Amino acid sequence: PRVAIVFGGRSSEHAVSCATAAGVMRAIDRDAYDVIPIGISRDGHWVLSDGDPQLLELTADSTPEVAPSGAGVVVPLATTDRTLTTLEPQQVPESLGEVDVVFPLLHGPFGEDGTIQGMFEMADIRYVGSGVFASAAGMDKHYMKVLFAGAGLPVGPYAVITDSEWRRDKAAAMDAVGALAYPVFVKPARAGSSMGISKVSTPEALEAAIEIARQHDRKVIVEQGIVGREIECAVLQGRGTDAPRVSHVGEISVTTEGGHEFYDFEAKYLDDGAVLSCPANVPESVSAEVQRLAGAAFEALGCEGLARVDCFYTDTGDVVINEINTMPGFTPHSMYPQMWEATGLPYPQLIDELIQLALT
Ligand code: DAL
Ligand code: MG
Repeated sequence: PRVAIVFGGRSSEHAVSCATAAGVMRAIDRDAYDVIPIGISRDGHWVLSDGDPQLLELTADSTPEVAPSGAGVVVPLATTDRTLTTLEPQQVPESLGEVDVVFPLLHGPFGEDGTIQGMFEMADIRYVGSGVFASAAGMDKHYMKVLFAGAGLPVGPYAVITDSEWRRDKAAAMDAVGALAYPVFVKPARAGSSMGISKVSTPEALEAAIEIARQHDRKVIVEQGIVGREIECAVLQGRGTDAPRVSHVGEISVTTEGGHEFYDFEAKYLDDGAVLSCPANVPESVSAEVQRLAGAAFEALGCEGLARVDCFYTDTGDVVINEINTMPGFTPHSMYPQMWEATGLPYPQLIDELIQLALT
């Protein structure tokens, strides 16, 4: 089958998406699949790339980027601190309709949020992952919590500040946060990879943190900090009518040496500030509860294909859901493929499974 791997995109997670695509292009079985790598530049141009994974890697001193270009065939792929590389011309598929399936490896708005999924639905193109609604709900940290709570799943205390509330009366908008205990985490409602997130320990620092989050999304969510351990679980849609499959649970430990106050962007992708233990060293009842919640969260939003569900195991012994990611990272640092590896599903087979789910 011909698989279009789509990466980059218009969101602030552009570079993470490139690194995710590099991971998948390294792992995909080239004998089984004909890969067509398609980059989307930050300004929204779709370009064919030669998909050299090396150019797409995200490191402390190199941020990959699909070069802005309207060009059809010869595609320059830029990295911010490496010289421009002009790639060999390739046969451009006349339209995406010529591929059997699209793997939209896009994180954040305009990719993970239902927009590109809607385009594929309109054009009757098969694609890996969740559909329009689940993608949109999973992108929005506010509505995902509303849906989880509606399904009876445990979520932590939070407050939402919409754009109009903020512009109408900042003080009143911040009053809503008064019910939460500090520290709080101030986040853009629709972003990822910890972009725009601040940990805030005092009310005086709240306004500045909200302004930072608003640079990514005009809707802001403020979550009460939860004292506990970060436990994640990878979910894969069941085959046919089977229930969702869940991986062993993994624990993220963030080392404080690197100056990380939480599981931030640097700890996620740039240094060894975050360590995964999988299976996590937690009581059996806790891992079973995380797995149960992960499967239930997947179904509460009506997800398809894949998702990673992030939970907290609190100091008081409870498990609460922090969030779901409908297109989790596949970078070398990313937890989703690592948790499946630890569960006995190697990376190339995981990719194969995801494509087969989309094709059937
Ligand atoms: N948003 C990033 C890519 C993740 O959840 O892995
Ligand atoms: Mg996320």
